[in-house]
Amino acid sequence: MKKKIKTFIRNLVWTYSPATEREASDATARNFLLHWFPAKTTTRSMSFSYSMALGTIIFALFSILTITGLILMFLYVPSVERAYWSIKDLEFVVPYGWFIRDLHRIAAQLMVATVFIHLMRVFLTGAYKNSEKITGSYRPLNWWIGLALLLITMMLSYTGYLLPWDQLALWAITIGDHIALSAPLVGPAISKVLIGGTIIDQNTLIRWYVAHVFFLPVLIFMLLLWHMWRIRKDGGLAAVEALGIERIKQDKVVAKGKTYSLMGITTGITPTITQYRVRGETVSSSPYVTRRILMIFVMVTAVTMALAFFIKAPLEQPASLMWTPNPAKAPWYFLWLQELVADTTIRIKGLTISGGLVGGIVIPTFLFLFAGLWPLLDKSTDQAIGVWFHKSRRLQNAAFLFICAVIIILIYVGAVMRGPYWHIYMPWQQWIKMPTRF
Ligand code: HEM
Repeated sequence: MKKKIKTFIRNLVWTYSPATEREASDATARNFLLHWFPAKTTTRSMSFSYSMALGTIIFALFSILTITGLILMFLYVPSVERAYWSIKDLEFVVPYGWFIRDLHRIAAQLMVATVFIHLMRVFLTGAYKNSEKITGSYRPLNWWIGLALLLITMMLSYTGYLLPWDQLALWAITIGDHIALSAPLVGPAISKVLIGGTIIDQNTLIRWYVAHVFFLPVLIFMLLLWHMWRIRKDGGLAAVEALGIERIKQDKVVAKGKTYSLMGITTGITPTITQYRVRGETVSSSPYVTRRILMIFVMVTAVTMALAFFIKAPLEQPASLMWTPNPAKAPWYFLWLQELVADTTIRIKGLTISGGLVGGIVIPTFLFLFAGLWPLLDKSTDQAIGVWFHKSRRLQNAAFLFICAVIIILIYVGAVMRGPYWHIYMPWQQWIKMPTRF
């Protein structure tokens, strides 16, 4: 009876249940959409406490952004005369236009935040470490693809910021342009490419629009497929790596050999080696992984929709180069850079050290390069691969968390404590609201 009730409840939400392992593997291998999953997945990599499903959550958010973005394209007009008013129409005239816009905006914010958190989890589990000599998995490559995805995600969000063509958009982009201008030698050239001239106008809008609706989404989608493919070619998530290495060493297996190549860009390891790592600890990808992914998509959609009901996307007055909001702030994920620019602008007598250069370019470039080189510099033990807070990585995890904490504090200071003229205000201090029009 109990079993019957259980089956009944299961059938309400999921009817596919393969009779044999063979049938389950076939379901994955023969299906066009599913065949890029392996027939079997390790139970360790499915554990929520390992990956927290952050990558899948990002994928779901990206899908919401693509669908809502396509709808918005029917209504938004990328011209300086009409852009702002098409957003106003969305807000007040088009039925549920406000909802589609809020959904798009909140999904974008969530995506940027989740990509950062995903990067943190990958670092703290040492999932980028190389074990090619033992298992044939070259994981640093996926870390580098991930860094490119992080950059493009931020660019995608930033290019979207300009499109409403309101004061918030115009001045956030102006801040970015000023930072680019402070790069030695190449600054003016970068600025020219970014804004398509010397002032932010129609040229800038159309450039950013095309990048936002075409180039960046296509690029992110292609990199995403490569990212997923690499996980498969690395023999699954790093959660099983340490165990596999131990077994390979114990049984003195020669774990050499690569088999596949995707247009010469992605090689992989042999299925025998993968099986070696995870003997007896696998489930069929269909339906276990597919069901999990579907559930995550449903949950992410529900949460994003609920948030979109309560959090309104801002729309300020139409963009005008004639007056500057005080304070003018960048989007929250760039506020730590804006704060660094302010903190590193030092005036000693007649000499000024440019904060735009130090805080806006040198420090972030250094951090990014360091992140890129880290998989090559990290010499901790193989046993630390795919393990949260492994003891051999204590020092580097502490340094990494320290940098993350500084970035979060800088964002907080920029978002909450900076008032007119970029002066610091404590939470209990009020600042005078500056006039928005002269
Ligand atoms: C658009 C952004 C991204 C998407 C959609 C994405 C997606 C995913 C997915 C679905 C996974 C499988 C595990 C999981 O669900 O967490 C994964 C794993 C991984 N990601 Fe990402 N990712 C993105 C950005 C990044 C970034 C910024 C990094 C790091 C710089 C990164 C590095 C990795 C690595 C190394 C793995 C393998 C982890 C392991 O083996 O445990 N990814 N990613």
